[in-house]
Amino acid sequence: MCHVVIVSKLIIPTVPCFFVQLKMSEDRFQLVVRKKKGKGTANKRPCKRQQDRCSVDRDHDDDDGGSDENLDSLIERIQNCSVELLCSPFYKNLSDNLKKTIESVKDIHDADHQKCVTMVCYGIGNFASCLIARYQLGLLLCIRQEFQIPSERIHLYDPMFSKTEIRTLNSLGCSLITVNEEGKRQAEGLTIFLMLHCGKPLYNNLLWANWKARLLQNVIIVGNSFKNMELNIPHRIMEEEASYIIKILPYVTEVPVKNNFVHDDIFNNTSIHCFPACNLEEIQRIFWDSSPEPIYEKDAEIILKKEATLETM
Ligand SMILES: C[S@@+](CC[C@H](N)C(=O)[O-])C[C@H]1O[C@@H](n2cnc3c(N)ncnc32)[C@H](O)[C@@H]1O
Repeated sequence: MCHVVIVSKLIIPTVPCFFVQLKMSEDRFQLVVRKKKGKGTANKRPCKRQQDRCSVDRDHDDDDGGSDENLDSLIERIQNCSVELLCSPFYKNLSDNLKKTIESVKDIHDADHQKCVTMVCYGIGNFASCLIARYQLGLLLCIRQEFQIPSERIHLYDPMFSKTEIRTLNSLGCSLITVNEEGKRQAEGLTIFLMLHCGKPLYNNLLWANWKARLLQNVIIVGNSFKNMELNIPHRIMEEEASYIIKILPYVTEVPVKNNFVHDDIFNNTSIHCFPACNLEEIQRIFWDSSPEPIYEKDAEIILKKEATLETM
């Protein structure tokens, strides 16, 4: 029996995922059914340890951008991740909850220019060398397709991206953020921030940059559970590195994403966070007014932008 999954305009028979490949041209997925051969990359275990998540050299001096063949192969591996996700109960649950979240906040986005959702992705990691990051990029492509987000509204940044990864993202039609904005992007319209396993300071900076009811109600964060941070991280550290997370906790609506994907260390500890206007309305003005820009110690979990030096000025 062949069931059919309908995702937006995409129709996929639920044959085993390793037999299916998703080709994409100009934002459209095209289904290609292939014979299974060998093990395939989608089946390999992702890198396990946390330090593997960002263990690649920062300068990437040896990376010349990669051959076209390597690029094609990388794109194929990313698309395989997307297909595997699309077939999964994990993605169904995540996209259902994301849809509900968007529905719950969209009444504030009825003006024409705000109809379209934007997606910003920070800290996805080195997807050319790390399977965890590759699946997360696969997820971004699934969300882009399902929520019909135009390519020019998809923005990614990770200071660790190699030249090959930048070329790949360009080929996939994603916009690269060209400066290290340290997560301080204002959400002028409804924006999904995909920030899987990012350091606390990135979330903290994002909240700081949107520290107004008008802006914060535009923000949806798919990332590490704020509740779990509060439960598991000592209060002193939260105060030092994530004071805005602590302050906003009483007003956030958090929906945990069920971690039932076949690999359990790719989307673990993930929640969808939003800040509904009705929660923010009750807040007094002084709450918003006292908002100094965060400063972090050198060893905090964020790569800060390089300060302008005399030579560069
Ligand atoms: C713990 S790793 C997570 C990588 C991947 N998402 C995962 O789950 O394995 C944190 C990531 O945040 C990135 N990062 C650090 N500072 C950043 C900044 N200022 N802007 C965007 N990403 C940043 C790092 O380069 C790294 O890839």
